[in-house]
Amino acid sequence: MRILVKKNGPYLVFGNIPLIKERIDYDDDKYLLVWKKIASFDSKETYSLCRCGKTKNAPFCDGSHEREKFGGECVADNTPFLKKAEKTDGPELLLYDEESLCAGAHFCTRAGGTWDLVEMSDDAESKEIAIQEVKDCPSGRLVLVDKKTGGEIEPDFQPSLSLIEDGITGTSGPIWVKGRIQIETEDGVRYELRNRVTLCRCGMSGNKPFCDARHVSYEFHDK
Ligand code: FES
Repeated sequence: MRILVKKNGPYLVFGNIPLIKERIDYDDDKYLLVWKKIASFDSKETYSLCRCGKTKNAPFCDGSHEREKFGGECVADNTPFLKKAEKTDGPELLLYDEESLCAGAHFCTRAGGTWDLVEMSDDAESKEIAIQEVKDCPSGRLVLVDKKTGGEIEPDFQPSLSLIEDGITGTSGPIWVKGRIQIETEDGVRYELRNRVTLCRCGMSGNKPFCDARHVSYEFHDK
């Protein structure tokens, strides 16, 4: 399984990787933000997903990048995440944060925000909320380490892709890549294998191929 980022073109997906669509929305009590699965696509051995945001056949590429003269240069820093992330050191949890990867998914803002919760992680409820918030973060901007075990606290993902819809802002968001799928460019750059990352599909990110939340201000919708 792998994703090849075509130069100024789409994402080529290899290996029969499952594809679904999920929406960030409120729970039934209209209190907590949750992920809701809203669609799934027939599985295929290979397929190409739009990266420029202009396709008329979303989420798949229809060649619009050529007509639009899409400039899709991949500029993301490929330094390993743990080396470049900032740390917040709480009593029981250690938080790593790499802001350039933020996909604006909102989950980290509840109950005072993940950073404050980590600093209060000797309180059981604060610790539990911080863990849930980080597990819900699609982009991998935030990673938690349990200081007792030294292990990362990660959701258990099978390799799969999920198109994000943001029910709070009414925008379409990035492609959520789950389960350590190799992402590489045509120029031979291989990005670090990670359990969670988000790939831009609006074409506007300043941190390509990753999402940097610009789809929100750009009011991207894949129609
Ligand atoms: S999808 Fe988030 S910046 Fe493009």
